[in-house]
Amino acid sequence: MALKLEPGARLVVATHNPGKARELAAILENRFDLVTAGELGLPEPEETETTFVGNALLKARAAAQASGLIALADDSGLSVAALDGAPGVYSARWAGPDKDFGLAMAKVEERLQATGLEDCAAWFTCALAVAWPHEGPALVVEGRVDGQLTFPGRGRRGFGYDPIFTPDGGALTFGEMEPAAKDAMSHRARAFEKLKAALL
Ligand code: IMP
Repeated sequence: MALKLEPGARLVVATHNPGKARELAAILENRFDLVTAGELGLPEPEETETTFVGNALLKARAAAQASGLIALADDSGLSVAALDGAPGVYSARWAGPDKDFGLAMAKVEERLQATGLEDCAAWFTCALAVAWPHEGPALVVEGRVDGQLTFPGRGRRGFGYDPIFTPDGGALTFGEMEPAAKDAMSHRARAFEKLKAALL
């Protein structure tokens, strides 16, 4: 069976993070009738997998089953080369129960300083998964954007680790960039381009 998404299809976006929901909606160009897992009151499944792909699939399948709708989920995070890819799938968890990304960025800075700050290379990864209800098929793709970490962080736009990440070839951090400029090059945009090519 060919996996296809018709324009105007009702989709549940399996995120409770309003920042990510906003970015995904912009990237989807209002092509679909979107509702979020938060709006439907769906439970947030525990992210028990050790890869972005694994967690995205887990969240999409859980939302599709709970809602009876086609579900789109992402799993994303920041990986730091000198920290062997940490925080990686634990990016959200490094911010603690209060989702304090000041704390999470301080933790990254402290651990990177302990390595001597010689290698500040980092990348954001986004896995996007689409799952059909009733244990139907699923599809998953991954996008990535490479850059350097800079301290102290700069800029109040975006969310999460944006203030400390400068994409390669640029001078502004994600926290300083216009949202449209970030959307044009982000890991999420790159993953979505792949998803579009596969599904639309
Ligand atoms: P999850 O995908 O909800 O498990 O969490 C991903 C976490 O990675 C977010 O809470 C952010 O901390 C971080 N993250 C993912 N994408 C971005 C981004 O575009 N900018 C900044 N932080 C991000």
